[in-house]
Amino acid sequence: MGPDAPEAPRKRRRSTKKLTTTSDAGEDEEEIYENLRKFPHCLLLTRVGQFYESYFEQANEIANLLNIKLTSRKWGGSRVPMCGFPLIHLDKHLKVLVQQHKRFVAMCEEFPLKERFGVKEFERRVTRIITPGTLIDEPFLDAHENNFLLAISCLSPQQSDKDVDIGLAWIDISTGEFYSKHATLESVQDELARISPREVILPDAFKDLKDHHLMDALAEENCFLSFVASGEGHPADNATDARHIHKSELASHRISLTSMERVAVDTLTSYLNMHLLENMPPLTEPTQDNVGRMQIDAHTIKALEIRETNYEGGTRGSLFNVLKRTVTNGGARLLSRWLCSPSTSLSDIAARQSLVEFFLRRPHLEADLVQLLTKVDDASRLTQKCLAGRGDPSDLIAIGKTLHTWSKISAMLATEKDLEEKEQLNYSPEEWRSLDALMSRMHTLTELLDAIHKALGVDGESVDRNLEELSFEGENELETGLPKLVNWKLPVSRWFVRTESSKTLQHLYKRFQGLLTEKDTLENRFQRDYGAPSLSLRASPGQGMHVHLSRKRDQPKLNNDANFIPTYESGSTKCFFNQEWSQLGNQIVDIMERLALEEKEVFNSLRNMVNEYSFSLKRNSEIINELDVALSFSKVANELKFVKPNITDDDVYDVVNGRHPSVEMGLLTSGRVFTPNSIKLDPNSKVHIITGPNMAGKSTFLRQTALISILAQIGSFVPAESATIGIVDRLFSRIGAKDDLFRDRSTFMVEMLETADILRRATDKSLVIMDEVGRGTTVRDGLAIAFATVHHLTTVNRSRTLFATHFHELAHMLGHTDEATGSGTYQKLRFYCTDIDETEDGYFSYSYRLRPGVNWDSHGLKVAQLAGLPSIAIETATSTLKSLQ
Ligand SMILES: Nc1ncnc2c1ncn2[C@@H]1O[C@H](COP(=O)(O)OP(=O)(O)O)[C@@H](O)[C@H]1O
Ligand SMILES: [Mg+2]
Repeated sequence: MGPDAPEAPRKRRRSTKKLTTTSDAGEDEEEIYENLRKFPHCLLLTRVGQFYESYFEQANEIANLLNIKLTSRKWGGSRVPMCGFPLIHLDKHLKVLVQQHKRFVAMCEEFPLKERFGVKEFERRVTRIITPGTLIDEPFLDAHENNFLLAISCLSPQQSDKDVDIGLAWIDISTGEFYSKHATLESVQDELARISPREVILPDAFKDLKDHHLMDALAEENCFLSFVASGEGHPADNATDARHIHKSELASHRISLTSMERVAVDTLTSYLNMHLLENMPPLTEPTQDNVGRMQIDAHTIKALEIRETNYEGGTRGSLFNVLKRTVTNGGARLLSRWLCSPSTSLSDIAARQSLVEFFLRRPHLEADLVQLLTKVDDASRLTQKCLAGRGDPSDLIAIGKTLHTWSKISAMLATEKDLEEKEQLNYSPEEWRSLDALMSRMHTLTELLDAIHKALGVDGESVDRNLEELSFEGENELETGLPKLVNWKLPVSRWFVRTESSKTLQHLYKRFQGLLTEKDTLENRFQRDYGAPSLSLRASPGQGMHVHLSRKRDQPKLNNDANFIPTYESGSTKCFFNQEWSQLGNQIVDIMERLALEEKEVFNSLRNMVNEYSFSLKRNSEIINELDVALSFSKVANELKFVKPNITDDDVYDVVNGRHPSVEMGLLTSGRVFTPNSIKLDPNSKVHIITGPNMAGKSTFLRQTALISILAQIGSFVPAESATIGIVDRLFSRIGAKDDLFRDRSTFMVEMLETADILRRATDKSLVIMDEVGRGTTVRDGLAIAFATVHHLTTVNRSRTLFATHFHELAHMLGHTDEATGSGTYQKLRFYCTDIDETEDGYFSYSYRLRPGVNWDSHGLKVAQLAGLPSIAIETATSTLKSLQ
């Protein structure tokens, strides 16, 4: 019992066989020990009534981690440490244990077998082990991010060559999104950065590997690792029973995984089976993640602050945040995923762009749709919850409402199209094509909606049952089924099931009403026959069915009557056993039990129906997510004055007056304006060298170039006056100086590692931005390295490159001409620079505007002056500079 557990009479049982024996502590103790032995890597929480409890050594640890009181209880003749907390604090504490401390928690739940008159009998078992990567519906799940669990397979752990084949399989258990990919060790870190898994599963063989590329990448990406013994667990046959998967979809679903992918999928599946236990949802085959996408390397995802900023990992100011206008959770997750894996397919991008254009032309429709989308629930998570056997009535009601809203969205679009067609004003079937193609993939789910409506009375709008008021206390409470007997009337259905929804329910309910009438009749008859108006027919835990007399003067009237056997007396009340009432009362209780069971049955079959439709539900919700993102793109294009980029197959990058979306936003908030810049990279000028003083906008320009290419390839419009962008296959960056002292690497080493990676992997379709390479070492070394890097990029990689440097000597080495081009081998190079404007009164300001040429003056002293160095110090610096020259 918890420190202040309710004193309900209860018997605890482990097995269904021995229902009648009384509770004994030894049995409980045995049970806990057994679970601790069975799940040695877990913290065990055992449900006891309204509490979760922990015993023995673990209690110390849990009390410590959760900052709750450690007590003790007497068990088997000695005292053992224990701690516990009430049910309602479970989520809060799980968040601490699982999310914060990355501990595995084994949940041992209690299942009522029977309850009558308040005495409960239980069975207990571990139903699930909660780990960071296997969250299902915990409220601390981030609604706007996927919660991926990733398994990596690798044939020979000893080999660390970059071309070693590996298999990846990852799943978000909360949404059911499941992918696999064949890759090599070389790209593993980029995949990790993109997938951003909450937990990574590796074979045991990797546990003690040092100096292994995979282990380095995992450490670099801060991944939380779980190890599994090879061959552990058996991937159960979990082929989903999805009647409603269309034939064609099944065909497109049947994919051939490589053997490495298969191993990863099997590892993932058996890990899930071992941990989700009774909450294991059926799995489909994974989607093979081999569609064309722009590969963004791990450093770049971080350096460009795509998902989160570098300040404490927050999201304010990240590209995601500046861009996000989505209203659904699924839409936000899709946007976040797209940002880290832009498309390389011209047709996909064109289709997305045309949706954005479509909505930009129809602001009224956009607003109406957004309004509807706010009513859409997170259908993929709700469906997944049902698949895991955890959906409750409020979830089904939410699904019903969402289905209703989906059909309203479809209807709204159809009406709009009709209207345009009739009015013929600006109707063009061409404009509707992308939207039609998207929406035509929606499955109609009328049958499911009708069933939910029938059973739960949800039509999405009219029945707005106040769910918040009716609290659900979790599965176990729901399963106890039996109402208190005192009132002799049915409580609100725990399953929210309408009586009209089932013939059996109607029948039972009628019988129930009939029996109640019989009870009233019997009560009246007794009162009349015995002249005892205070007589009532009752039931209670202590006494079962009994006849109750509350007035003293009525009491003698039943004495010495063979039909009434006195059982209890206290003060003015007296109780009797009566055969007739006992039979009737028990009938009523039986009916109530059957009603509760039948309601549960109706609910369960409804939930099964959701499971059968799960494929369509998730599919529709993906389509709605895409719609949400398209609407979001349209909104942002309108608000931030983005234009539609022209996407081509050539190696060009031609942007007129481009802007950095988040820097521009930041400046705006302090009332300043952003200076736009143009850039034209093409096969005849693929590498641009950018010089200029500190703080004049070089890095900003480099980043905006990369961001615009990402925006363009996710199908968004871009912050510029016009843009033509040839598909970028890989995006690389070497930006910023991040010291990795923890892992014993100097800034310079990090810089060189990243540079090496780029020179090895960038292709002629790639976009490379390099910021001040060679800064971390001596001028001579730095210059030499910078030169070699530019040389390699120009002659070997031939990537579209922006190279910012403060080594203006580099310009000489590359044969700078008066036309601001290189010469000889480097004639396709171009030079641009930023500058400082000098005003007449001796002040300076940054121009931020790029111009062709090289800035030969580093303006170091002017920057120092702008920064407010004391004027005496500036004078000293000026004279020192003179003497140096
Ligand atoms: N195009 C621009 N227009 C207006 N302000 C800018 C622009 N580019 C940069 N800035 C401002 O100047 C600051 C420094 O820019 P940064 O790109 O870091 O310079 P650099 O890399 O040349 O040292 C930015 O934080 C921003 O506030
Ligand atoms: Mg800079």
